[in-house]
Amino acid sequence: MSEFHVRAVAEGEQRACLELLEQALHAKPISDEAWAKMARTWPAAGKFAAFDDHGTPVGIASSFGTELTVPGGRKLATAAVDGIAVRADWTRRGILTAMMATQLEDIAARGVPLAALHASEGVIYGRFGYGVATYGKGVLVERPRARLRDGLGRDGVVRFLTPAEAVERVPALYRRFTGERPGFAARPEMWWPGFFERVVTGNDGYRVAVHSGPDGEDGFVVYQTVDMRDRQAPERGALLDIRELHAATPRAWAGLWRFLLSIDLVSAVAGRGRPMDEPIAEMLTDPRAVTTTEVIDDLWLRLVDVLAALQARTYGTAEAVVLEVFDRQLPDNNGRYAVGQDGVDRTTAEADLRLDVDTLASLYLGHGLFSDLVTAGRVEVLNEAAVARADALFHTVRAPWCGTFF
Ligand SMILES: CC(C)(COP(=O)(O)OP(=O)(O)OC[C@H]1O[C@@H](n2cnc3c(N)ncnc32)[C@H](O)[C@@H]1OP(=O)(O)O)[C@@H](O)C(=O)NCCC(=O)NCCS
Repeated sequence: MSEFHVRAVAEGEQRACLELLEQALHAKPISDEAWAKMARTWPAAGKFAAFDDHGTPVGIASSFGTELTVPGGRKLATAAVDGIAVRADWTRRGILTAMMATQLEDIAARGVPLAALHASEGVIYGRFGYGVATYGKGVLVERPRARLRDGLGRDGVVRFLTPAEAVERVPALYRRFTGERPGFAARPEMWWPGFFERVVTGNDGYRVAVHSGPDGEDGFVVYQTVDMRDRQAPERGALLDIRELHAATPRAWAGLWRFLLSIDLVSAVAGRGRPMDEPIAEMLTDPRAVTTTEVIDDLWLRLVDVLAALQARTYGTAEAVVLEVFDRQLPDNNGRYAVGQDGVDRTTAEADLRLDVDTLASLYLGHGLFSDLVTAGRVEVLNEAAVARADALFHTVRAPWCGTFF
């Protein structure tokens, strides 16, 4: 059987790696024209690949640098893992395992405390220490029933941007969203061209609209119109499918929803991956106009440097707990950590709770409760009183949400 070896991708090898990624994700082959546009956003830096005996890439693991907001508001350097694939004729031979090990060691060696990804399937990444740290909900709002409460969302103005205006103005606008919400991801410059190419300047009928309030532009929505009419229901209006809706203020948020719900010949407005606590039903006179269509795992988080990550966030009010963490891939993280509102440090004290690093990642941004993960068999309890304390320390008021797909 042929062997493979994993190494950093060299200049000139990116296109072959991208082709293997697109093939594994069942996407169309990349044309020369498409590659010419993409090349600068797909640098060799940050990529590892598995090569066969002939030097042909058969697996790819890519990442780029970003920042995630952690509870308390600090922005922490994060490796955004965005392209993972193994060629179909090489799967289940340990290539992903080898690439993830190399990638994680590299991220750790560079002193980046977090890694994060969006997973194609739920069974893949837990074994590498990633845990689901944010969730998103799908919503469907029936427009004929949906009325916003009096006065809500009427303070500003919404208007469409041309694709060229969107390319020029939306990235700067996005930087206004400073991300008080845990899990919120910054978007480096190299993230935007791919988004604009796929969505805004493409032929899929996306529209971009901005909201302006007293301090200028403060929110935007990107949506696609899907024609829902057919022979049985020729009167049925269109569906507005929200790709992105971001707002710097509650007023801008309500203004954008009011705008969407005011568009004629529309039967429903839908969105996927919305924040779990987005109060759509609460802003309407009839909360039953909204259906939650799904709840999906959003961001999978990896604590690459457990101590640095724990020290970077703030905690609720409770007596400290001692967590004993087990990390198979990065054993430097193994050990006990005293976590309290006054700080975090390694300790030799007896452990209260014992858990794997992927479980800690699931709790890190404030989603979920230790007590639920005790029930689920994910946290071992050595001191019963510590469970409620850990819940109070880690849980956040705002539901964590990433807001960016990569
Ligand atoms: C997912 C993928 C990268 C896995 O690569 P791989 O080289 O086959 O993975 P490995 O051989 O290292 O597998 C490691 C372990 O994970 C398991 N595993 C990996 N992918 C799995 C999957 N999709 N479903 C179930 N188990 C999976 C393997 O069975 C193996 O388990 P074991 O250690 O108990 O034997 C590959 O199947 C692929 O490219 N799929 C299509 C593209 C894709 O989904 N990419 C991920 C984008 S986020």
